Order: sequence, then C-alpha cells, then structure tokens
Amino acid sequence: MLHRVLAEIEQQFTVPTGCMKTIAAAFHNAMVDGLAGRASSLKMLPSFIGRPTGQEQGKVVAVDFGGTNVRILLVALTGQGQFNIVARRSFPLKDKAKNYDYTSAAVEGKKLFDFIAGNIAEIVPNEDIIYPLGHTFSFPCRQFGVNQAQLISWTKEFKTAGVEGQDIGQLLQMALDRKGQSRVVSQAVINDTTGTLLAAAYRDMTTDIGTICGTGHNSCYLEPCHPLTSQPMVVNMESGNFDKIAQTKYDVLLDAASEKPGAQRLEKMVSGQYLGEIVRIIISDLRDCGYLTLGDERLSVPYSLPTEEISVMLADTTPNLAAVASVAASRWGMVGRDIAELAALQTIASFVALRSARLAAATWVGVLLKIDPELDRCHNIAVDGSLYEKMPGYAGHLSRAIKDMFGAKASQVTVRLSKDGSGIGAAIAAATVYNAKG
Ligand code: GLC
Repeated sequence: MLHRVLAEIEQQFTVPTGCMKTIAAAFHNAMVDGLAGRASSLKMLPSFIGRPTGQEQGKVVAVDFGGTNVRILLVALTGQGQFNIVARRSFPLKDKAKNYDYTSAAVEGKKLFDFIAGNIAEIVPNEDIIYPLGHTFSFPCRQFGVNQAQLISWTKEFKTAGVEGQDIGQLLQMALDRKGQSRVVSQAVINDTTGTLLAAAYRDMTTDIGTICGTGHNSCYLEPCHPLTSQPMVVNMESGNFDKIAQTKYDVLLDAASEKPGAQRLEKMVSGQYLGEIVRIIISDLRDCGYLTLGDERLSVPYSLPTEEISVMLADTTPNLAAVASVAASRWGMVGRDIAELAALQTIASFVALRSARLAAATWVGVLLKIDPELDRCHNIAVDGSLYEKMPGYAGHLSRAIKDMFGAKASQVTVRLSKDGSGIGAAIAAATVYNAKG
C-alpha cells in the first residue's frame, strides 16, 4: 500500500524533460511580457546597474538583509576582481531566548532599521571618512534609481509594520543618522540575486544570471538592452512569483495556509522556506489516510520540519536510517523505528528536493532562450543559498536538468556557487555608484 502511494506521489512531483522545456518557454514569454509592461507574473524590476568592470575599488560597507539573519561586511575592493573582507558581523532579527522579533507585525519598521544601524555602528571604524554603503535587500522593490528602492510587499513571511511602500535606502539612512553614523552613506539598494550576479561577474565576465536557491528563490539576469535606458541592465525578475506551473494538492494546501495565498507560487515549490513544510504536509496526509502509523500531534503543526532537516535526511546512508529516525523522533515523536516508514520519509524528501531543482533549472533555461536562443556563447549562472550549497544532491540535480534540456550544448553553461555573493555584490554596487560620483 505504502509502496503504491509513494509511486503516485513520485508521479506528481516528477518534472520530465518535456515539461521543463514547456516551463522554460512559458517563462521566456512571461519575461518578454513583463519587460514590455504587459500583465505577467514576473515583475522584471529594473536595478539601474549593469555588469561590473572588475576594476571597482574602495573600502565599503555591505549590508545583506534577506532573511532572518542579517550580515554586515566591511569590504576592501582592490580591483582585478579581488577583494578582502576586513570585518564581518551577523545577527538574527528574531531570537526567542532574547525575546525579540523584528519580523513581526507588532514591530514598527523604524525599530527594525534602528537595530540594523546599531549593528553597523559596531563594525565601522571610528574614522572621519565617508563609508559608502551598499544594501542588499532581498525583497521585491520598485526601483526608481540605484539608491531608490521602494518595498512593494514583504515575502518570506516577514510582516514588520510600516515598511511596505517605503524607500528602503532612506529608512536605513535615517536610522544611521539617528545612531550618529552619518558618515556611512547609502549608495545602492540591490536585490540579493543582483548581488550574486555582480559578485560573480566581478571575476567572470560570462556571468549573466544570478540566482538564489536558499530560504527564498529568485533570479535576475543581465538584459543586454533595457527598454528604459537602451543600455545593459540587471533585471530582478522576482521569479519566485512565476505562476505557470501546475500545483499538486499539497502545494495548494501549503499556499492556502500561507501568509499570502496565490503569491510566490514558484517560490513555494522551490525554496527552503517551504520544502520542509511540503514534506510535512505530505507525511501528515499519509498518516491521516492510514498509510503511515507513526507520529504524534506535532505532525499537524505547520512548519514543524525545518528544511535543513531535509538535508539531514537526504544525507543519511546508514542501513537503519539513523539520522532520518532521529529527525522523525525529535520533530514528530515517530519512535517506532519502522524502517519502511522511515524510508518513505526519506523518499518523499528526495522527490520534493528533486522537483525544486528541476523547476529552478527550467526557469534559467527560459532566460537563456531570451538572451541567447541558439546558445552561441558561454553563460555562467551564479548561485548562492543554502539549498545549493548544502542540500545533498541539489547541485547535481541542477546540472543534470540543464543537460536534459540542452543536450551536448549544455557544456556552454556553467552553474557556480557565488559564495557570500549577495554581500560582496552590495559592496561592488556601492563602490560603482560612489566612484562614478567622483
Ligand atoms: C524572495 C524575495 C526576492 C529574493 C528571494 C531570495 O523571493 O521576494 O526578492 O531575491 O526571496 O532571497
């Protein structure tokens, strides 16, 4: 019985090559529509920044704010694609033990940015010089200039009050001023995908896609001739909102119970924020239907399986699935150690992870169809994020998916980690803008 139901789930989560090609074509169309200002689930947000030259230099502050952990870097860019991280600091925006949560609807944005500015003050040397600041802010922003970015709406279950519709660069600058840090001057607000692209392109000129496979999922690309400027410009597609992919009944359940039903449909199938929850919903359904016997009431608690534990389950090669057993016991009180049930958990986790990778890869192929349909040039896809870096098998699934779609021509495409790309990219953006001002 369990065997049969697993086969059914596998079928629902499998993305065959033909289906990836259809998704790629639909994604390409959505890009074209979004860029032309027609209705599209892709926002195609301009960044007002192009490809770096690799010669950008200077000492700058980079803020990387994209999830519940914020990172601040003091970076010395030395040109020729080189940089040093002089200092770094990272801190959570919510901490149960310390009794704070800056992501909650009960907290005003001013408090959130004061908290970030206070942490910046801790890392910037007390010298009387201007420190250009680049801010990676990984949420959808309507951009009017490189340093003018208005938050359209929170994603990734953030709810802080009074930030939507506001100018993010200004909010941070005002908080810095309140902390007596006016010599730290905001120059650029960019998306993390843009940061990832810039950081990789600083060293590798073939980079023209930047993507995050982490807590969230999104991609940007270098549009060779942007309609606003007729110049090359990085475009943040907010591809997590792409909506031309069929949902399973589990996706529908997850979406309906989420903060913003209907929004971010691709992200809800691909990103780390949600993969654990998809697995939980499937397992809880199997238990309700009597296919699984183990587990207690915690199995009905939303988000009771963090995506990192999917990685733990996938990495388990022990004959008795010791790591899977330990996750299942600690999260859901599954202590029966029924090996068939534990194996089912691991198998379900692997279906969900594989689908995530194949969907993401299909959208990148959609971008390549737009910028180089015959694949005449080499293209590097710069990736950052915990799924890509840490989930067993994930990077391999991506490369295989690209091979499945392009065949021999896939050798024109590289997919490479752009580690800490979103932070370094913010530094590059800040230096570019500050130096251009002379
Ligand atoms: C969410 C955000 C997007 C960001 C992505 C990855 O999708 O809306 O701006 O790039 O997460 O962090």
